[in-house]
Amino acid sequence: NRVPIEDHLGRPLKDLRISVIDKCNLRCTYCMPKEIFGNDYAFLPEEELLSFNEIVQLAEAFAQLGVEKIRITGGEPLLRKDLDKLISRLYEIPGIADIALTTNAILLPKRAHKLKEAGLQRVNISLDAIEDEVFKQINGRAVGTLPVLKGIEAAKAAGLQVKINMVAKKGMNESQIIPMAKYFKDKDIILRYIEFMDVGNHNGWDLDNVVSKKQIVSKINEELPLESATENYYGEVASRFRYKDGGGEVGVISSVTDSFCSTCTRIRLSADGKLYTCLFASQGFDIKEKIRNGLEGEQLTDELASLWGRRKDRYSDERMEQKNTNRKKIEMSYIGG
Ligand code: GTP
Ligand code: 5AD
Ligand code: SF4
Ligand code: SF4
Repeated sequence: NRVPIEDHLGRPLKDLRISVIDKCNLRCTYCMPKEIFGNDYAFLPEEELLSFNEIVQLAEAFAQLGVEKIRITGGEPLLRKDLDKLISRLYEIPGIADIALTTNAILLPKRAHKLKEAGLQRVNISLDAIEDEVFKQINGRAVGTLPVLKGIEAAKAAGLQVKINMVAKKGMNESQIIPMAKYFKDKDIILRYIEFMDVGNHNGWDLDNVVSKKQIVSKINEELPLESATENYYGEVASRFRYKDGGGEVGVISSVTDSFCSTCTRIRLSADGKLYTCLFASQGFDIKEKIRNGLEGEQLTDELASLWGRRKDRYSDERMEQKNTNRKKIEMSYIGG
């Protein structure tokens, strides 16, 4: 058994975000615009995806280095066959205390119950608008809000904790900031607003399109008074605010206007087995090749520890300092957010 490790800037390794597939059943304009991710887009072939055995092998090694929390992402992770079987194996790993899933919820009515039984504790569900027409425009597949709302209901009924993620973008869904707050208030569901980030190379990011944390909070506060709350855990990405009337809380994820790299404890594993020490990294570390060539046990943990030990990433902080803006990046749907 190992001791927890720290990176070059003294940050511990605590969370592993695992992308299990690069495909999605939606085409959100800011994430997988259909003009780019069309019928002829080359998604990863099956044999390039890490197998469940490989994912578990890596998760076990990471658990030995201090990882406590695992988040499953995609693309849309529910498109990966037998996901509940993977979750029940991850659940068995000593030291893993929290398993969560980030999803668009469309497939949850069929799956929520089995996932919960497998050991899944929480789901973060992406929903960028409560009005049908607005949501249809955003998701590129003219899907209304009903399938997502049904997914949310199914998650709650299965006993999963639910948070909602809403990416706020100017000209896209500012009109939904208040209606979303009103809809999820008093429902024991935490709504989190996410500042639109410059991930990927195709989402046409511009600082002018960002609705800032400050703007979001003051807008809500005008109608539904808020007070600030403290963080739930070290390195939590969302700033938390409580409704003064006791109606629950909202969060704001401000990686653009108030970045949080100094407490970033996350490593990301892509569906094809590359490790990324930052959401904005331009290059991954090909761990699949190494484990397919027999790297295992102590040598594998050493390799992972040394990768984390070299880590200096702090992209969002640098963006705030206006350094380092024009590099090539990986796609959000590939790395899982
Ligand atoms: P909790 O465990 O519920 O706090 O989840 P989370 O907020 O860490 O994960 P989720 O997948 O719901 O992510 C919500 C948003 O935060 C997404 O837009 C992510 O891309 C963003 N996010 C999560 N981690 C990071 C990070 O390390 N850096 C940046 N810049 N954004 C992040
Ligand atoms: N900026 C901020 N959040 C984004 N997401 C996808 N693309 C972006 C972006 N450019 C969100 C998704 C999902 C989460 C994992 O990341 O909506 O909720
Ligand atoms: Fe799919 Fe989520 Fe990206 Fe939308 S934001 S295209 S639901 S992965
Ligand atoms: Fe972590 Fe990179 Fe996000 Fe900063 S930009 S919080 S280092 S993933």
